[in-house]
Amino acid sequence: MKGLILSGGKGTRLRPLTFTQAKQLVPVANKPVLFYGIEALKEAGIKDIGIVVGDTKDEIEEAVGDGSQWGLRITYIEQDAPLGLAHAVKISEDFLRDEPFVMYLGDNILKSGIKSLVEEFKEKKPNSLILLTEVPDPRLFGVAELKDGKVVRLVEKPKKPMSNLALVGVYMFDFHVFEAVNVINPSWRNELEITDAIQYLVDKGYEVHPHLVSGWWKDTGKIEDILEANRLILESIVGKIQGKVDEASRINGQVIIEEGVVVQNSIIRGPAIIGAETEIINSYIGPSTAIQERCKIIQTEIEHSIVLEGSEIRDVGSRIDESLIGRDVKIYKCPPKPSVYRLIVGDKSEIGIK
Ligand code: TTP
Repeated sequence: MKGLILSGGKGTRLRPLTFTQAKQLVPVANKPVLFYGIEALKEAGIKDIGIVVGDTKDEIEEAVGDGSQWGLRITYIEQDAPLGLAHAVKISEDFLRDEPFVMYLGDNILKSGIKSLVEEFKEKKPNSLILLTEVPDPRLFGVAELKDGKVVRLVEKPKKPMSNLALVGVYMFDFHVFEAVNVINPSWRNELEITDAIQYLVDKGYEVHPHLVSGWWKDTGKIEDILEANRLILESIVGKIQGKVDEASRINGQVIIEEGVVVQNSIIRGPAIIGAETEIINSYIGPSTAIQERCKIIQTEIEHSIVLEGSEIRDVGSRIDESLIGRDVKIYKCPPKPSVYRLIVGDKSEIGIK
């Protein structure tokens, strides 16, 4: 069985971060989202993985390499334009050939991994197995209708949902899916939709099995979902202190403090992770916070947030909450007089001011 991870796309909903970074490399608990997918496939015993890449190809290749860091073989498949999930399958036919495969959306995280699903697929050998989860507002997702335990209909973002079962970003297929992706037409948004490909399989009488996901699942396509995924992943970390924490500081709960970190006169309340060579001085770091490497947090309170590498936050008067701060950002307090804000802000940024 092979793996296919989709890591192209536009990432419009994650701007401004995605102006300068692939969305699949945004860190959750200081690890790129994409690595959770790669590790889930590895854990399920899959060793041969194709990664579909688009404009951010170079960055993804630099981070993932040839897969040897996980003992895997990685092949890159270039998609000229993000023409849909089924289009990504179509262009991967040469790589996948006749082998069954798991398709995993590179910005998704599944708590329970995919090992048991791969086993179920291997044992029952349906033509396709799709993952479903109950969601409060199905209108935002691809939605499945089931009858007698089988999938009978799939609709992408239905106005009037026929169930509350949303498609999770992991799918399994045998070679019949190529028949589907080569026949279906682009949708109104000019994409080859995976829901249409699966509907084709259903209509042709191929077996499409549903599988209800038990643990949490997160599609990190939007900022608030990344923060939520960060919170969920941090909930399961085990604390480890490698850097230097002075006597005036207090560390509560599960906190990972990496090598070369300096913590002075500060409180860190876990779960939290502080990346290598970061300095935390006279500050409060609250729960669900991930600070990447080489940051400086000085005289600042921050919680439920993610700070990317090389950023500096100092002397901020109010607590920073529910925030995602990019790479090499500087946030600081201006002198009290004259009372002005001094802002150097990129396109599509978002700043809340008291
Ligand atoms: P989406 O989140 O559906 O699409 P997107 O990345 O274009 O984001 P946005 O809607 O914010 O503009 O994509 C899910 C995953 O699949 C993501 O990792 C990107 C990847 N993808 C491809 O590799 N090729 C494609 O043609 C599409 C549409 C997505």
